[in-house]
Amino acid sequence: MSTSTPVLGIRGMAKSYGAVQALRGVDLDVKAGELLGIIGPNGSGKSTLFDCCTGLQTPDAGTMHLDGRDITGWPMHRVAREGRFLRSFQKTVVFETMTPVESLITAGQMFAFPTLASTFSILPSSRRRTAALKARAEELIDLVGLSVVREQPAGKLSFGQQKLLQFASCLMAEPRLILLDEPLAGINPMLIERVVASIRRANELGVTFVVIEHNIDVIMGLASRIVVLDQGAILEQGAPATIVKSPKVVEAYLGG
Ligand SMILES: Nc1ncnc2c1ncn2[C@@H]1O[C@H](COP(=O)(O)OP(=O)(O)OP(=O)(O)O)[C@@H](O)[C@H]1O
Ligand SMILES: [Mg+2]
Repeated sequence: MSTSTPVLGIRGMAKSYGAVQALRGVDLDVKAGELLGIIGPNGSGKSTLFDCCTGLQTPDAGTMHLDGRDITGWPMHRVAREGRFLRSFQKTVVFETMTPVESLITAGQMFAFPTLASTFSILPSSRRRTAALKARAEELIDLVGLSVVREQPAGKLSFGQQKLLQFASCLMAEPRLILLDEPLAGINPMLIERVVASIRRANELGVTFVVIEHNIDVIMGLASRIVVLDQGAILEQGAPATIVKSPKVVEAYLGG
């Protein structure tokens, strides 16, 4: 595998729901370490693209490679487990009675200890592993800026704080690639900068991101490259400064 092999390579991905052609043959390469933004009008196929990539939906046509490996047709759990390829869902799930650190350790154990037997193992190696998970959990609490609520049960955190915690749980698995579908939706404006800073920091630490976002100002400031979807196809792609000036993009947003 050469260094130029994309982390994610999509070719000819197509998906219809009845008469609706949600994706019409999308080709997309996501490079290692990049922070790719996806924008597009409502119903342009952005979420469907993620659904097909993660195995939540089966595409009608197309192939997908992860780090050069063909993962076309893999079910969702296999993509997530073997591919270290994670997606944060719209719905926020936290362990309500646990503190943020406890809930991250629990999330980490799910990745680190695939079977129940090993979770209860008293081998020194597993104790060392738990200590390592705790250290990582503490680091991630700092990274997402939740130190001030570290002793509170997760169920008592605000919606935005729960999303930050969920983002940190994603990072517990040390993923190569994270797909985020509208990470800022419903977030209190006070917390938007915190979410953006957390994504940026994780990207600096080496995680590749694809982020769907309707907040154009934010995504233009965050992403290194933007892909514009319109009616299930890529309309335009390039640096944020080029995209904002593209007449085609302006028309897709303003036109009927
Ligand atoms: N599970 C589904 N069943 C039937 N139709 C669907 C399904 N998911 C998406 N669609 C349709 O496919 C098209 C693309 O939808 P999609 O959710 O991918 O758009 P989107 O770009 O994510 O839009 P938004 O910005 O509103 O989130 C729409 O016409 C939508 O109604
Ligand atoms: Mg969507």
